[in-house]
Amino acid sequence: MDKILVHGGAPLKGSVRISGSKNSALPILAATLLTREPCVIQRVPDLSDIHYMLTILSELGAEVERASGTVQIKAEKVLTDAPYDIVRKMRASVCILGPLLGREKEATVSLPGGCVIGDRPIDLHLRGFEALGAAVRVQAGNVKVLAPELRGTTINMRGKFGSTVLGTDNIMMAAVLAEGTTVIDGAAEEPEVVDLANFLIKMGAKIEGAGTRRIIIEGVKELHGAEHTVIPDRIEAGTFLVAGAIAGEEVTLQKVNAAHLTSITEPLQKAGYHITTAADRLTIRPNGSRKPLELETEPFPGFPTDMQAQMCALLATGEGISVITEHVFPQRFMHLAELKRMGADIELEGATAIIKGVPQLSGAPVMASDLRASAALVLAGLQADGTTEINRVYHIDRGYESIDDKLNQIGANIERVKA
Ligand code: EPU
Repeated sequence: MDKILVHGGAPLKGSVRISGSKNSALPILAATLLTREPCVIQRVPDLSDIHYMLTILSELGAEVERASGTVQIKAEKVLTDAPYDIVRKMRASVCILGPLLGREKEATVSLPGGCVIGDRPIDLHLRGFEALGAAVRVQAGNVKVLAPELRGTTINMRGKFGSTVLGTDNIMMAAVLAEGTTVIDGAAEEPEVVDLANFLIKMGAKIEGAGTRRIIIEGVKELHGAEHTVIPDRIEAGTFLVAGAIAGEEVTLQKVNAAHLTSITEPLQKAGYHITTAADRLTIRPNGSRKPLELETEPFPGFPTDMQAQMCALLATGEGISVITEHVFPQRFMHLAELKRMGADIELEGATAIIKGVPQLSGAPVMASDLRASAALVLAGLQADGTTEINRVYHIDRGYESIDDKLNQIGANIERVKA
């Protein structure tokens, strides 16, 4: 297994180009199953999660061609049973249920289990499919959805931790080919949901309200092929902003959408960083002393759960006491034990991390537990004294395109040791 060695203390300076969004690209690639015609998706990041999705699509019978960031998919015929071995590697594979149900009126996918960021049920997805007229059966670890026909209806996608992103995507992808009008209330408002809706609209779907709490979909008979460019990855951008905050003299992000990033830039400005925006660029610079923060994760447009670990790494040093409460995945705190091994002073009370800033962290061997936790450890390593050895880095390759190379381009000192 590869590991990453971060030699701390190198100042970051320069520009980095942000990749296409993983969490947009995954459901958009799944949505290509909705048509027999070819689709072309641009700015698809080169990540292992994307590779799993493309493998699932080809196992289902689609022709898939990839040349750097461009993926062409033609799903003339599709199978409706997803291969267990690949599906189980990635929770997002659940988002093939919606398009298969929409197109073939049936789909079988192995039921995702829990993961280190907590229990991750799909009850809201299944409730939505049932409301559209599907029968849902869970048997031998698989979930099977089957509908003689799909009928538009009003569905509420809000659960006790807020709206569900992939659940909203799944229902939208099934409802575009349903009979009549579907109203999704309590819809997730994330930019990735809007990006998927924009792609579906290019394919001929009739969707209004994506990006608000109410999405209205008027079913059509069929969809056609389309071309689409994936939006910039706001979590990769946020992670590089925090890298700039932790170790930067001046770091510029290229090809970002600043409007998607205000819930990350605002707290950084409050903490004392100077951030400027010009066209599709953002630049972060330290601005003297740094203040502690109080943050709560929320669905978009709130502070994203996918940035919580990275922000813990930033706030672990400096003066004062910061507090971060996790409302979306209350158990998503595996990174705290590893940050403490590096000298951080953090207590967890329920779903709230109380972080007392220390003057400096020290490098240590640490273990990556999930994607964002591994990013947090790389960030912590940038500011630590000595070398941080991060094991199980396959987690980071699931969601960051060459994070080590990109950080090295702006002055970091990171080595990848191949197993
Ligand atoms: N939930 C339910 N029932 C459901 C679905 C979700 O109770 O049927 C709960 C979840 O347990 C959680 C909350 O609702 O407490 C929100 O989960 P959501 O369904 O929105 O998560 P997701 O759609 O499975 C996507 C991203 C995650 C990101 C979350 C929240 C993708 C592929 N994944 O997951 O990204 O954390 O939304 O914004 O889009 C990551 O990139 O590191 C990552 C984990």
